[in-house]
Amino acid sequence: AGSSGRGRGLLRFKAVPAGAADTLTVPEGYTAQVLIPWGTPIRAGGPAWKKDASNTAAEQAQQIGMHHDGMHYFPMSRGGDSGLLVLNHEYVDTTLLYKDGNATVSKEKVDKALHAHGVSVVKVSRHKGGWRLRDSKYNRRIHGNTPMTFSGPVKGSHPELAADGPVRGTLNNCSSGYTPWGTYVTCEENWNSYFGTDKAGWTPDAEQKRYGVQASSAPYNWHKADPRFDIAANPKEANRFGWVVEIDPFDPKSTPVKRTALGRVKHESATVTESRGRVVVYTGDDQDGEYVYKFVSSEPWRRLRARRKSPLDHGTLYVAKFNDDGTGTWLPLVFGKGPLTAANGWKDQADVLIRTRTAADAVGATKLDRPEWVAVHPHNKDVYLTLTNGAGNGGKVNPRKPNPYGHIVRWREKHGDNTALTFQWDIFDLAGDPEYDPSVKLGPDNIHGSPDGIGFDRSGRLWIQTDISNSSQNLASKGYDNIGNNMMLASDPKTGEIRRFLVGPRGAEITGWTISPDQRSLFINVQHPGEATAAWGTPTPENPRAVSNWPEYDPQGRPRAATVVIRKKDGGVIGT
Ligand code: FEO
Ligand code: CA
Ligand code: CA
Ligand code: CA
Repeated sequence: AGSSGRGRGLLRFKAVPAGAADTLTVPEGYTAQVLIPWGTPIRAGGPAWKKDASNTAAEQAQQIGMHHDGMHYFPMSRGGDSGLLVLNHEYVDTTLLYKDGNATVSKEKVDKALHAHGVSVVKVSRHKGGWRLRDSKYNRRIHGNTPMTFSGPVKGSHPELAADGPVRGTLNNCSSGYTPWGTYVTCEENWNSYFGTDKAGWTPDAEQKRYGVQASSAPYNWHKADPRFDIAANPKEANRFGWVVEIDPFDPKSTPVKRTALGRVKHESATVTESRGRVVVYTGDDQDGEYVYKFVSSEPWRRLRARRKSPLDHGTLYVAKFNDDGTGTWLPLVFGKGPLTAANGWKDQADVLIRTRTAADAVGATKLDRPEWVAVHPHNKDVYLTLTNGAGNGGKVNPRKPNPYGHIVRWREKHGDNTALTFQWDIFDLAGDPEYDPSVKLGPDNIHGSPDGIGFDRSGRLWIQTDISNSSQNLASKGYDNIGNNMMLASDPKTGEIRRFLVGPRGAEITGWTISPDQRSLFINVQHPGEATAAWGTPTPENPRAVSNWPEYDPQGRPRAATVVIRKKDGGVIGT
């Protein structure tokens, strides 16, 4: 088979059946290799992972974090068989992270959790036996205690960011992106869940409420042992989260930068593309009824960088309005424009960005069914956005009410220019199972639900990963029983065909998508294997293997999030 798939469609592999086994399945003729599971020491001689979860906080800071998510491979060799893998660690499962689960909380346990969040930078290379982690000067952990700086309209010295202690940490790093100048961007999603208080009578103010900050922060309960996360005692600390953070993986001494011009929401992803020399960053705010945003740099990015300015600091943030007639517009979130005036209580652009959600409400953006990842077609620049599931409010762009299975909306910016302010949209993929929803046009080779991660390879295949959570299985009642475990599918946007490529182990979502330049090694992440499920119950500290024991199946071990490298046995292009 040729690599371009000309004339016969892009998909040449045999579909993997849906399944519920505690295993990871790839198509015939393919191999899957587990790489850098949670707890792997990032340096030679670093602390080994202990299968009873007795590693300390200090040890966790020298190991791969937990719950791998968005990821990018930065090649360092011509063939692409050696490079830096940069990946997010979204959150922690307290049952798996600690020997004794979350029955108690201590500063040591809070620090272990903080160190299991964030980002890992590791060098990897391919050898006869497969891919390996390499010791290198680039290997680095960035986590919840790492010093950070702020840039753009909101400075670190802004009074709304005046919390106790220095600016540090990135949390709930969900999806990610990468820039044309070789840096990684990581997204802070459900940061609100780490803040709480036991102070009697405390209630959230309007802005805290808009972002879901509340008194309870179970199961983390960090505020009980670390005042940094006590929202009553230290309310401004929360304003330091909800940003997109830029990391230079090739400068191990660099300080990560929170790029405030991109707004403060629950950022799922930050997908960077280029149009007319400018950078355009698409970002979803993953909560039911929230919005999708795009940032456009004020000038071509090369020109800004030549003047030592960051293209991510200078530009305009927009939020999308999807009209029911298939058209759409980008509405600017700019102080002084439209309703965002001093007369309406807005102070300046920093105020608009700290309160991005409220600003987007004011301009009349369209509510979406949980906007997650964005992918831009490499040839025609069409934009694809996963709406994972939701209540179905907001208009025709959410075609089901409720929408337990989710869908993918696609749009073409005017003249295919990603900086344009108008677009035309349609629904690319309506997920689900025709047995429960006859409007779904899928069958045994491709039924799926809750699309989340998406990515395009250079040939134009769209890869779709799913994140059916236990809660959405309940929402659908039994509507997920034929779909089984989370999966990855490939699709050909030209023909509309979708085909199941991989099925994950029990309890896990499939996320993180990046591919070597030769398209012969595909990296994905298996997140939260063994999470409580309706079918298999709830793991406990005594039995962390109740749902899954992937990937090691050690009778004394526990499930571990991990990266998986997929190759064709004949060394060919993935998907062919
Ligand atoms: Fe972190 Fe919306 O998934
Ligand atoms: Ca996600
Ligand atoms: Ca999700
Ligand atoms: Ca997740």
